[in-house]
Amino acid sequence: MTVPIGERGLGPLPGHLTVGEESIELPSVPATAGSDGLAISSLLAKTGKVTVDPGFMNTAACTSDITFIDGAQGVLRYRGYPIEQLAASSSFLEVAYLLIHGDLPTHHQLDEFVERIDRHMYLPEDFREILSIQPRASHPMAMLGVAIHTMACFYPESMDPLNPAAVDLATVLLLAKMPTMISYIHRRAAGYALLYPRRGEGYVHNFARMTFARPGEAADLPDALAEALDTLLILHADHEQNCSTSTVRLVGSAQANLYASIAAGVAALSGPLHGGANEAVLEMLARIRDSGRDVPSFMTKVKDKQDGAKLMGFGHRVYKNYDPRAAIVKRSADKVLAALGVRDELLDIAREVETIALADDYFIERKLYPNVDFYTGIIYRAMGFPSSMFTPLFAFGRLPGWIAQWREMMTDPTTRIGRPRQVYVGHAKRDFIPWEDR
Ligand code: CMC
Repeated sequence: MTVPIGERGLGPLPGHLTVGEESIELPSVPATAGSDGLAISSLLAKTGKVTVDPGFMNTAACTSDITFIDGAQGVLRYRGYPIEQLAASSSFLEVAYLLIHGDLPTHHQLDEFVERIDRHMYLPEDFREILSIQPRASHPMAMLGVAIHTMACFYPESMDPLNPAAVDLATVLLLAKMPTMISYIHRRAAGYALLYPRRGEGYVHNFARMTFARPGEAADLPDALAEALDTLLILHADHEQNCSTSTVRLVGSAQANLYASIAAGVAALSGPLHGGANEAVLEMLARIRDSGRDVPSFMTKVKDKQDGAKLMGFGHRVYKNYDPRAAIVKRSADKVLAALGVRDELLDIAREVETIALADDYFIERKLYPNVDFYTGIIYRAMGFPSSMFTPLFAFGRLPGWIAQWREMMTDPTTRIGRPRQVYVGHAKRDFIPWEDR
C-alpha cells in the first residue's frame, strides 16, 4: 500500500491509497497547524479492509480547536495562546474559562464565572460522609474516582449530556467541588478534620487553606505556595488527545453524562505511564538516594532495560524535544523551594539524572527528554503533599481540559459513538466439544 499525501503549499490535496489494483481517493482534513489528516472511514466499504494502528500512533480520532502541540519544536498552546504566556500572566480559572468557552473572558465574564464557582465549592455533609466511610488507606486516586462518581448521585439535575444548561451546571459544579474533594482526600488520609471552603477567599487559596491548615492553628500559608500551585494547574490544564482525554471522549461518545466520563478519565490518569508517572518519579529518585546515590549505575540499568527499568518522567509520545511544561516547572522548582525554605536532595539527584540523560546516546537517539512529571513531584513534596497525592493534583489541573474536550465532542455534528474495529486472529469456526469428550 502507498499513500502519497497531497502536496503541501497548494493547500491540502486528497491522498490516494492504492490497495491491490484499486486506487482510492482519501479526502483531506486540513489543519490550521500541524499535520493535515486523510479521512479513512470509507476504506472498509470500498476495500473490505480495516486500518491497524495499535496505540493510535497515526490516528486522529477527531478534529479539535482546543490545544495545539508541536512535539518536534516543544510547543504547547491552548486556544492559540502559548503555554509560557498563560503560565506567566493568567490564572487557572481564567485558563479554565478559555479552554471551555474558546476565548479569554472579559472582566465581567470572568467575575461571573469565578463567583459562580465560589458559590458552589462546599460539599454537602452526606457527600463528606461518603468519602469518610472509605478505608483511610485508600489510594487518593481511588478516592477521587469515588468522589467524581458520587457527584452524579447528588446532582442528577445536571446529568443530561444533551441539555446545555445541565452541562453548564455540571461544568461549574465539577470545577467548584474538585479542590474541596481533593483537600478532603488529603486531610482524611492525614487524620485531620475536614474544613469548609470560605466564600471570597479565592479558588487556589481556599484549596491551600482547606488542605494545609493545622487543627487549632491560624493558617499561615505563603503566597508563593498558592502562586506555584496555580501555575502547576495551568500547565496541566489540557494536552489534546492523551490517554485520559481520549477516555473521557470515548465514554462521552456513548452519551454518558459528564461525571461518568470524567470519572473514567481519572481512572485512566492513574496509570504510571500517564498521570501516575509523577508519583513514580519521586519513588525512583528516593530509590536512587537510598541505594547510595549511584546515578550512573541506575542509568545503565535503564538503558539495559533491566527488570523493565524506565526513567520515569522522561519520554513522551508527542514531544521529541524538551516538554515546554517541564522547562517551566524546572525553572520554578528552585524558586518555590527557596520561598518555602526547603532544601531537597531529590532535586539534586533529578538534575544529575537529567544532565546524564541529555548527554547520553540512548536518550539522544530516542529523543527522550524530561516531561511535565519529572520536576512537579519535587515541588508538590516541598509543599507538603505525600507522593500519593501527586496524581490527584494532576487530575485537578486536567479537569478543565477534560470538560472542554467532552463539550467539544458533544456539540460536534460529526461525533459518532467511539467503536474501534479489530483484526480477529483467533480460531476459525469450530464445533463445541461435549463435556464427556474432553
Ligand atoms: N526510559 C527509558 N527508555 C524509554 C523511556 C523511558 N522513560 N521512554 C521510552 N523509552 C524507550 C523505549 O524503551 C523504546 O526503546 P526501543 O526503541 O529500544 O524499544 C523507545 O524509547 C520508544 O519508546 P516507546 O515506549 O515506544 O514510546 P511511547 O510513545 O509508546 O511511550 C511513554 C511514551 C510516555 C509512555 C514512555 O516514554 C514512558 O513510559 N515514559 C515513562 C513514563 C512517563 O514519564 N510518563 C509520563 C508521560 S507525560 C505526562 C502524561 O502523559 O501523563
